[in-house]
Amino acid sequence: MQARGPLMIEHRLIERMLSVIQDVLKKIETKHEVDPVFVDVAVDFIRMYADRTHHGKEEDILFRELKNKTLSIEDRRVMNELIEEHVFGRQTTKALVAANTRYRAGDETALTDVAGNLRTLIEFYPKHIEKEDKRFFPSSRAYFTEEEDQAMLAEFWEFDRQMIHEKYKSVVEGFQK
Ligand SMILES: [Fe+2]
Ligand SMILES: [Fe+2]
Repeated sequence: MQARGPLMIEHRLIERMLSVIQDVLKKIETKHEVDPVFVDVAVDFIRMYADRTHHGKEEDILFRELKNKTLSIEDRRVMNELIEEHVFGRQTTKALVAANTRYRAGDETALTDVAGNLRTLIEFYPKHIEKEDKRFFPSSRAYFTEEEDQAMLAEFWEFDRQMIHEKYKSVVEGFQK
């Protein structure tokens, strides 16, 4: 498998979660309510899986390695865009959490913000994924030898191995704050 393999497999699961969110958004529009626990679960997926585990491998390993290469102007521009989009995803998730907190406390006007931030996520993510799958991953592969690509893949597996421990350590620490 090439190093981009796990990243593309993760994209497919992220897309499935986006489709779940899409269905929930339709229900919000017809019923004018949302289960705040669903939002908690979606936020956990986005933060722990899409951001920490997935963007983590992209930024901490793939982009780090690409920074040692002489990228074309176009590839460097796209990489910077991808980094900015990750930041935008984090900001939107933070706004979603704030809106969900207000909604849970009884502020019904917060429903618009919960729905708006969920919609922003489902609209922006597919374009980000497509940019990586179809443009950035194929063109960035050309900067690496087979050995370098396999070394990144090995580092990806090690990165993933640590995630389950990080996740549950954070759960325990959350209770002991
Ligand atoms: Fe990304
Ligand atoms: Fe990605």
